Amino acid sequence: MDVLIHMFVGLHIIGIAALLGGFLTQMKATGQGAARFTPAMLHGALTMLVTGAVLVGLNQAQDHPVDNVKIGVKLAVLVVVLGLVYVKRDAEKVEKPLFGLVGLLTVVNVFIAVLWT
Ligand code: HEM
Repeated sequence: MDVLIHMFVGLHIIGIAALLGGFLTQMKATGQGAARFTPAMLHGALTMLVTGAVLVGLNQAQDHPVDNVKIGVKLAVLVVVLGLVYVKRDAEKVEKPLFGLVGLLTVVNVFIAVLWT
């Protein structure tokens, strides 16, 4: 079971790579006001949600302690990110502040994950 948990942590990391990587590839376009939410960002955010939920279940099934407050905060931040990316997924251009907010919230989630012990 531990191998399965580690595999899902790996998938969880692939999800953040797609979400944050998708954001970073748009940095130049953001400066020109022409950034858009790429499919990689939407699929990365969805991957985070699904693999995160699976990780909660697998850890609980193994009686590994899960910090519900930390997970709840990560989930709340991700839901905002996912909602914004989903609603604007077909927009050819996304306003700079909105695009920046999604990147900021994503980075915040990375630091919540690694600093909240
Ligand atoms: C963009 C959002 C997210 C980021 C950047 C992120 C990042 C990470 C990272 C780096 C890890 C491995 C390090 C660690 O064990 O703490 C991890 C583990 C984990 N994540 Fe996430 N995560 C996100 C969203 C979520 C969500 C939405 C959930 C639940 C629905 C979740 C549940 C978990 C669980 C259960 C673990 C393993 C158990 C633990 O040690 O805390 N994550 N996450």
